[in-house]
Amino acid sequence: MRPLVYALPGNEAFAAGLARALPASAGALEVRQFPDGESLVRLVDSPAGRDVILCCTLHHPDSKILPLLIAADTARGLGARSVGLVAPYLAYMRQDARFHPGEALSALSFAQTLSERFDWLATVDPHLHRFKSLSQVFPIPTAVVPAAPLLAHWVRSNVERPLLIGPDEESAQWVSSIAAQAGAPYLVLEKHRSGDRQVEIAVPDLSKWKDRTPVVADDIVSTGATQARILTAVRAQGLPAACCLAVHAVFAQGAHWMLLEAGASRLVTTNTIPYVTSEIDVAPAMAPACASLIAQRGSRRRA
Ligand code: R5P
Repeated sequence: MRPLVYALPGNEAFAAGLARALPASAGALEVRQFPDGESLVRLVDSPAGRDVILCCTLHHPDSKILPLLIAADTARGLGARSVGLVAPYLAYMRQDARFHPGEALSALSFAQTLSERFDWLATVDPHLHRFKSLSQVFPIPTAVVPAAPLLAHWVRSNVERPLLIGPDEESAQWVSSIAAQAGAPYLVLEKHRSGDRQVEIAVPDLSKWKDRTPVVADDIVSTGATQARILTAVRAQGLPAACCLAVHAVFAQGAHWMLLEAGASRLVTTNTIPYVTSEIDVAPAMAPACASLIAQRGSRRRA
């Protein structure tokens, strides 16, 4: 039988794209809030005997996590054969160290919580920095879908003579890959962050790139401070207006406006977090990863 994909609220479009690509059936799931703020989850279509996929992007995770865990328990309690999680954006991955005494190592806590409920996890470009792979944090099988081929395709189709610019060493993995696939040169800069919105970036002399269109690329746009610093520097050096490209449109309040003010000609992201900038659809690319995780789960059951 085909897998059954349920969308947590706000994930309907992504889940529908995934179900089409797999192919899988779409299951109806309802979440409603009681007056006291508690959530009631209902799986309208029965998950009994099915390989279930819960689709829930985890931007603003704290309000999403409890209904998601309850949905996973409900699917299992109602007889699902397996329960996997498609989280196009995986939260908490940036808190991968105790940066100050007493701080939580949130990446590990979050991974542990999800791993207790799900048989597998698939996501798009998690923020891996100090942890080099998801298997260092997740004990369950995981799959990472790279957005770089799709971002590179967008660059090739939309930008003439691009110059890819990554803000920091973490971005090198995405920027180098996009640049290689788009046949463009790239630079990786050095960033120092001293606060949530306080970012310093050393931008070198760019005069030899004056005939190139800068494409500032990163995995996440959150406050926008990182990309805005680069936009300002690029504009001051007289290069053409830059595009901002990112995988995950976290976009904290004011970020979009700040980037336009700083001179962005265009803001483009994938649909891992639905936003007005979500031009690049990663749902079809997620399908083979899910199919393979479900098959692995099936062969472990048979062994
Ligand atoms: C951090 O290392 C990430 O790769 C991004 O550079 C960062 O999250 C962007 O954050 P913001 O938009 O708040 O500067």
